[in-house]
This record gives sequence, C-alpha cells and structure tokens, in this order.
Amino acid sequence: LTVAVLISGTGSNLRALLDAAAHEDYPARIVVVGADREADGFAHAEAHGIPTFLVPFRNFADREDWGRELADQLRTWSPDLVVLSGLMRLLPADLVAEWSPRIINTHPAFLPEFPGAHGVRDALAAGVDRTGASVIVVDAGVDSGPILAQDRVPIRVGDDEHALHDRIKPVERRLLIDVVRRIATGELDLAAASAPSR
Ligand code: GRF
Repeated sequence: LTVAVLISGTGSNLRALLDAAAHEDYPARIVVVGADREADGFAHAEAHGIPTFLVPFRNFADREDWGRELADQLRTWSPDLVVLSGLMRLLPADLVAEWSPRIINTHPAFLPEFPGAHGVRDALAAGVDRTGASVIVVDAGVDSGPILAQDRVPIRVGDDEHALHDRIKPVERRLLIDVVRRIATGELDLAAASAPSR
C-alpha cells in the first residue's frame, strides 16, 4: 500500500509512521510527505529519503485555489491512501470527494467528543477526567467521518494542553500505525467502513 502523509507541524505522528514503515514486514510504504506550510516534520521525511512537496496556503488566493494545487500534487503521486497527520487545514470538499474514503485523519480526542482544531484544549476546558485519540475517515465535515479506531486517554490533575497532548500523541501514533497496517492487509475495508449504515 502506498501512502502520502500530509502535515503542518512537528510531524511526530509522521515520524512514528515512517519508523514503522521502515520495517520490511510493514505492509505500507510512505511515498511522499506534503505540507501546507514549512513544516518541521519534513526533516523526518528527509531522514528517510522520502520526497516532500510544499503547497503553501499563504501563496494562494483562497482555499479552493490551494486545494486545486494540493489535489494536483496528490494526483501526481497517486498514493493508495492519504493520511492527514497533524494537517491543520480543512480540505476543500471536492478534494475530499475525490479521495474519500481513501483519506484518513488522526485527531487528539475521543470523537465525536471535541472535534475541531482545539480538541485537546477543549477537553481540558470541559473539566472531564478522560479524553482520547481517534483515527477517522475524512468526510466533508470537520472530524465527522466514520471512526476507524479510538482509545481513551486519562486527563490528570495539573495537566496543561501540552502535557495532555504529549500523553495523547503516543496513543494516536499506535492507533494510526495499526489502522494503516490493517488497511494495507485488507483487514480494514475503508469502503465498507464508510458505507452509510442502513
Ligand atoms: C496531532 O495530535 C494531530 O492529531 C493534531 O495535531 C497534532 C500534530 O502533531 N491535529 P504532530 O505534528 O504529528 O507532532
């Protein structure tokens, strides 16, 4: 299974996926890493000799223009699967329509709890004692697609956003690596997972 990973930031999830994919018994290969801005995570791709592409959001007039360029890049690489891993940008509906359900996302909360760009902060603000991590199929909504895997993460007294996010990320990485493996082996059928439940 060939995989394109899209990031915006440090790429700690990307790094874990790269490390997993470096083992020859892992059934997926990352073929390219893309970003919407100069992402520190590119360093992980370069360390593994994997090509990168940059589609800087700020260079485009609007989301649609940016999305068209991103869609062109993805078509060029034509991966079997697109993984959003810390991409902090909503994708235009037509790009999602073109790729779904072969496009998945990691989210640092127990969806449908705390969707959106501040899931970790929102869980802390809610005063709950647990949150989680989720891997979903990207659909036209915000973190609203079918859930492929999720697990609970405890919130501890004294947690700030950074500490809690650092506890969530290893769970996110474990789920992501396992979901990509199960998609690659066919154990997990994205079309079936995305089919509207009758
Ligand atoms: C991850 O928790 C991701 O789910 C969220 O932002 C974080 C990005 O972390 N959208 P990194 O760039 O993978 O380190």
